[in-house]
Amino acid sequence: MQIKQILAEAAIGSEITVKGWVRTKRDSKNVVFININDGSVIHNIQAVAEAGVINEDTLKLITTGSCVAVTGTLIASQGSGQKVELQISSVQVYGTADPDRYPLQPKKHSLEFLREIAHLRPRTNTFSAILRIRHALAFAIHKYFNDNGFFYLHTPIITGSDAEGAGEMFRVSTLDAKNPPLNEDGTVNYKEDFFGKETNLTVSGQLEGELGAMALSKIYTFGPTFRAENSNTARHLAEFWMIEPEVAFYELEDNMALAEGFTKYVINYALENCADDLAFLENRLKDEEKSKKAEERSELDLIQKLRFVVDNEYVKLTYTEAIQILLSSKRHKEGKFQYPVQWGIDLQSEHERYLVEKHFKKPVILTNYPKDIKAFYMKLDDDGKTVRAMDVLFPGIGEIIGGSQREDDYSKLLKRSREVGIHEETIWWYLETRQFGTAPHSGFGIGFERLVMFVTGMGNIRDVIPFPRTPKSAEF
Ligand code: 4AD
Ligand code: MG
Repeated sequence: MQIKQILAEAAIGSEITVKGWVRTKRDSKNVVFININDGSVIHNIQAVAEAGVINEDTLKLITTGSCVAVTGTLIASQGSGQKVELQISSVQVYGTADPDRYPLQPKKHSLEFLREIAHLRPRTNTFSAILRIRHALAFAIHKYFNDNGFFYLHTPIITGSDAEGAGEMFRVSTLDAKNPPLNEDGTVNYKEDFFGKETNLTVSGQLEGELGAMALSKIYTFGPTFRAENSNTARHLAEFWMIEPEVAFYELEDNMALAEGFTKYVINYALENCADDLAFLENRLKDEEKSKKAEERSELDLIQKLRFVVDNEYVKLTYTEAIQILLSSKRHKEGKFQYPVQWGIDLQSEHERYLVEKHFKKPVILTNYPKDIKAFYMKLDDDGKTVRAMDVLFPGIGEIIGGSQREDDYSKLLKRSREVGIHEETIWWYLETRQFGTAPHSGFGIGFERLVMFVTGMGNIRDVIPFPRTPKSAEF
């Protein structure tokens, strides 16, 4: 039986076998305690044996990290800390873990150290809690969309277009890197490559997502996404998972309402279904906060913070209004922003966090950004200067969602794609949807890991994905 099931429903007196990894073993003359965890829940089960029940040779093999199957009778616990325990009748050791080499000891390890042993860190309380919450959030996302009439569209991983126009992509090629076929002008001849053209790993499923929305009305994607930007921050991965809903007939206001309803739903799902793991992470965070300066400590505990987001309306304002707020802030007047504030800038994380954490103290949706700092596909506002963009900003995270109403006018879209230097032959199929039954439509992308960061309270994105890919790091 899985430990989750035992703790929830097993009757005292029943005969049970538990299989899992040993967290600790305490040995005295008369009795041995073995704490076992199988990852099904944050809790261990304590197994107890009187002296002599387990023979000496087997007992030696049971150390922190070893894998065992323990059979026994479930009894009411004698000690404090757990309701039930297992009175051992027999033990089988599946795999030993040499105590001189096994790196996870029953003590607090730093997150940095655990990143170096990502193959073993799922066996810690912190990471198993994060992985279970990550699973619950993924499930909640599919449930939300399914219950609301969206279809899951599988968009390609390998693409010949650059959806975001940012040009920071990983090339996909089977050409000989040392000796590629060349054109007469010395450039690489990609016609000889596997797909007969230049291809990359996708930076977003949106463009294909829009094709789906122009047929099924409501779709979403949920897939791996790749960005070769060399940003070594606590919020960027080279490989992350993005969820991108796209909806025909939605205008920007509908898109904002979807983003708010969706995030509240999935966060609430975690509150309702991951209580034990969240309580564990909340305590972990409280410990971490103690080492911070008073003014850097967060005012709310983790669960309070999640509740707060679910219970309050997000603040909605335009980019232009946000710039006004930043310009009139004390921090700006005292010259304390690292990056200067002025209409037209791409907001930096420090600006976003000022708005969310200091000024409004709530999630914020910023809209109508200057067209020059946003992607080519966003719908132009009547003023010709801004676009119908929206970014959702969360406390502690900054940007968690980027989205927009899409330009649905063929000639405006063509003009804009030319202005930013996109080659028409790479997106002719995208442009054509504006010629065949075009319609107003909108969508957004939410970084899955940023959502998991917010819900778990973890400060570094490398700690919310099992095996992170970042510059110079793809070990596991
Ligand atoms: O704002 P972005 O670049 O928007 C798009 O890609 C659009 N195509 C979305 C759409 O409208 N369908 O990315 C969307 C979100 C960001 O808000 C952020 O949460 C996440 O993706 N993100 C990253 N997460 C981790 N590591 C990175 N390098 C990320 N880049 C973006
Ligand atoms: Mg963005």
